[in-house]
Amino acid sequence: MNPEKAEKKIHYKTIVYVICLVAALGGLLFGLDQGFIANSLETIEKHYKFGLEGGEKYSAILATGGIIGALLSGIFARFLGRKRSLVFAGFIFTAASIYSALLPPIEILSALRFALGFAVGVASFIVPLYLSETAPASIRGSMGTLFQLMITIGIFLISVTNVYIAKAFSAPTTSLPLMFLTVALFAALMFFGSFILPESPRWLMLKGRKDKAVEVLRKTLNTQEEIDNEISEIEEALHGPQGAGIGIIFKGYFAKVLAVGILLQIFQQLVGINMMIYYAPRIFGYAGLTGLIAMMTVPTVNMLFTFPAIHLVERWGRKKLLYVGAISMLVTMIAAGIAFQSIGAVSDPSLIGGTPKMVLLISVIIYIFGFAVSWGPVVWLVCSEIFPLEGREVGMTITTMVNWTFAGLVMANALTFMQKFGNASIFYLFATFCVLAIIFVALFVPETKGISLEELELNLKKGVILEMSRHFTQPNLKRRQARFGQAGRSLWLSKARRLSSSF
Ligand code: BGC
Repeated sequence: MNPEKAEKKIHYKTIVYVICLVAALGGLLFGLDQGFIANSLETIEKHYKFGLEGGEKYSAILATGGIIGALLSGIFARFLGRKRSLVFAGFIFTAASIYSALLPPIEILSALRFALGFAVGVASFIVPLYLSETAPASIRGSMGTLFQLMITIGIFLISVTNVYIAKAFSAPTTSLPLMFLTVALFAALMFFGSFILPESPRWLMLKGRKDKAVEVLRKTLNTQEEIDNEISEIEEALHGPQGAGIGIIFKGYFAKVLAVGILLQIFQQLVGINMMIYYAPRIFGYAGLTGLIAMMTVPTVNMLFTFPAIHLVERWGRKKLLYVGAISMLVTMIAAGIAFQSIGAVSDPSLIGGTPKMVLLISVIIYIFGFAVSWGPVVWLVCSEIFPLEGREVGMTITTMVNWTFAGLVMANALTFMQKFGNASIFYLFATFCVLAIIFVALFVPETKGISLEELELNLKKGVILEMSRHFTQPNLKRRQARFGQAGRSLWLSKARRLSSSF
């Protein structure tokens, strides 16, 4: 059935809205924990009395947890099931946030941030997977989009609340617990919400529990025809190629595509996004920009420009967006570097003139626009598309871990790097990575827009990966959209849908 038509006609059952809510919360928590630092770091440092390096270490430990969470989430998904993995992630989110609110010694607080990172790693894998398997086909695409948007909304939301809390309560012993409890509130909603979720029908079928799967589908779908279609689609997928082991990375064609995925994720981080997400208020402060502009510019622009990305990615294709993003980031990083160079080593930021401040502010706005509209969503999307089905689980796990590794590297070193080599230096360094990223995209990244996954896989095995853009045709686009419906357009979800049949 045409999904667009179906979307107009179908009245979804209440459980479908619960599924959407939990999905939204999973994305939101990812964003809340990622965006937590920017406007709380000063308060954390005040209370725990650690310097720049301590602050960086505490921030970056989230990424270490994310690496381990991403590594283990495939095992949880397979053995615990999707629902119980969600309950588990919800529990860790809740317990770690509440415990952090008690302001334990720094070693424990750091261990708790590791746990939060672990939960983010698990949730970022399980939520899209669960949705792709459980939400009715006609809204799967919008659910994937929703997940992506909720991450940036989470970053925005926690930035606003932390600004407000820090202003309203100056004593860290009051403000810091309130900041953690804000996260705990949404975490508890996710934890308790997960209990009323149905288990994924695809996982139930994988475990040979067809009766149970049909029972779940009866709750989420409206007609017997829809249920039958879904069951036969799952059965077909289960008879297809199943997840390969880690050995697949030694197969020539897979190794090549894995290198593309890994480098995309490395560049996504080495263009410097998380320096901005984590430390923008501080960096603006070095240039004498304070107040709401310093605290809210990055999360606001980041959230707003994720919306157009959702449409542009199908209209323009991935490569064009990656170029637009990398060029915007390159130019603005150079401009920001020049602004800092012109500021020099002014000891009193209030003496800094208006021009460098303005240049810095405009540069950061265009830089974040460049990332949000392209490298942010597109890298995840391309990584979800380029791996052959039997190696998708391995490929996605490795590339996700690489993403977190390099995110951690930036979080852990950006500020000390600025201190050691001068404020302008890091902007030039990130600009250099933008240049390398552009060259890399031009030479090695295939255009995946409008190409069916089967075709991608075939080309890949025939060794024609670099020529994929030539294979883009309108009928292919139509075929793909017919097959995946709205989900063909989704970012996180398209990853998960295709992953789901491999384990
Ligand atoms: C990146 C994160 C980043 C976020 C910002 C994601 O695509 O992987 O590291 O914090 O975008 O919106």
